Amino acid sequence: MLDVQKIRKDFPILNRTVNGKPLIYFDNAATSQTPQQVIDVIVDYYSNYNANIHRGVHSLSQEATDAYEQARNKIQKHFNAKQSHEIIYTAGTTHSINLVANGFSSLLKKGDEIIVSALEHHSNIVPWQMFCERTGATLKVIPMNENGELILSDYDALLNENTKLVFVNHISNALGTINPIEYIIEKAHAAGAAVLVDGAQSCPHLKPDVQALDVDFYVCSAHKICGPTGVGMLYGKEEWLNKLPPYQGGGEMIAEVSFEKTTYAGLPHKFEAGTPNICGGIAFGAALDYMNAIGFENIAEYENELLAYGTAELQKIEGLKIYGTAKEKTSVISFNVGTIHPYDIGTILDKMGIAVRTGHHCAQPIMDFYKIPGTIRASFMFYNTKEEIDAFIVALKKAIMMLS
Ligand code: ALA
Repeated sequence: MLDVQKIRKDFPILNRTVNGKPLIYFDNAATSQTPQQVIDVIVDYYSNYNANIHRGVHSLSQEATDAYEQARNKIQKHFNAKQSHEIIYTAGTTHSINLVANGFSSLLKKGDEIIVSALEHHSNIVPWQMFCERTGATLKVIPMNENGELILSDYDALLNENTKLVFVNHISNALGTINPIEYIIEKAHAAGAAVLVDGAQSCPHLKPDVQALDVDFYVCSAHKICGPTGVGMLYGKEEWLNKLPPYQGGGEMIAEVSFEKTTYAGLPHKFEAGTPNICGGIAFGAALDYMNAIGFENIAEYENELLAYGTAELQKIEGLKIYGTAKEKTSVISFNVGTIHPYDIGTILDKMGIAVRTGHHCAQPIMDFYKIPGTIRASFMFYNTKEEIDAFIVALKKAIMMLS
C-alpha cells in the first residue's frame, strides 16, 4: 500500500495556495503534477549536459545522447515493447496519432473503412476525419450506452473485410470508462484490421503490455504521468513502422541526401526529424522510474478507493448527476448539478483553491449524446487524499448554495 503523506512531500506544487486556500488539484486527467525527482532531472540536464544529440563528437553531446537513448530503453521496458526502435519519441499523444494517420493516408484507398469509438477525444476524431477527406475512406463509430460503455455487439457488426483500422482510447478522458481493448484488438485482427490504442488516460493508472495486448500502435503523453509537457511516445510494431512513410522531413531522419534523391534513416530516426525535446525525453524516463517505484498495482488500488469514496460522497448531493457509470472505470468523475452551468461551479471552486476541469473536455460527441453542454470533471491521482475530497464536497455545496 502506498504512503500518500510521504508521496505528497515529493510534489512541491501541492504546498502552494490558490486564492488564499491550500491547493486541491483535481485536474489530473488534463495534466498531472511533477515530483521533485523529475524536476531535478530537468534542472540537471540544463545545468550540466545540455547539448544536441546524435550529432556531436564532444562529451556533452554524447552524455545527452546516452541519457536520451537510455530513457527510450526505459520506455521500451515499461511498455514491454520487443525492441527499443519500436518506441518513437513525439511531442505527445496528438502528435503520435497524427503521425500514424498521415502514414496510413498513403496506404489506404476509397472504399476502405476505419472505426473509431463514440468515447474518443477530439484528437482521435479530427485526424481521422481529415484522413477520410484525403483518402476517400469511410469513418464508422462504435456507439456507447447510457453508462458510457461501448456497445460491443454493434462493434462486431461494423467490422468487415473493408475495415482496415480501428482506433480507440484505452480510457475515456471525459468519463473514465476503461474500454475492453483486448476484445477490440482481437476482433479487429480477426477481420484483418490494425489497431491504434490511445493510452493518454490509461498510462497514469495502469501499465500496458503492448506485446501481451498484441496492439499495433499504442500512444501516450508524458505530462499525464508525472513528466513534462511537449513529449510523448508512439509504440508501433516494427513491421507497421517500416511500412509507414516518414511524417516530417529534416535532419536526423535521413540516411543520404542529394538534390536528386534522399534515402531515409532506419527506425526510430525515420520519424524523428529535427532536434527533439531532449530534456523532455530524459524526464519522461525519470517519470516512469518514479511511478514504477511506487508501483502501478498500489496506484490502482489507492485510486480505486478515491474513486469509490468520491462517487459515494457526490451521490449524496441532491440534484447531482454523474455521467459515466461504467463497471470498469478509473478515477475520473464527471458530473453536473441540476441546471447550474459547469463553468459557474468551476469558477467558484477555483476561488476556494480547488482545480477541476469544466466544459466538453475535447469530447463534444459524448456531451451531445447526453444532451449537455459539458460537465464538471474531478480526476484523482495517487497523491490526492480523502481529506481533499471532503474539502471539495464542502466547497461544492457552498457553490451550489450560491448559485441556486
Ligand atoms: N485531454 C486532456 C483532458 O482531458 C487535456 O483534459
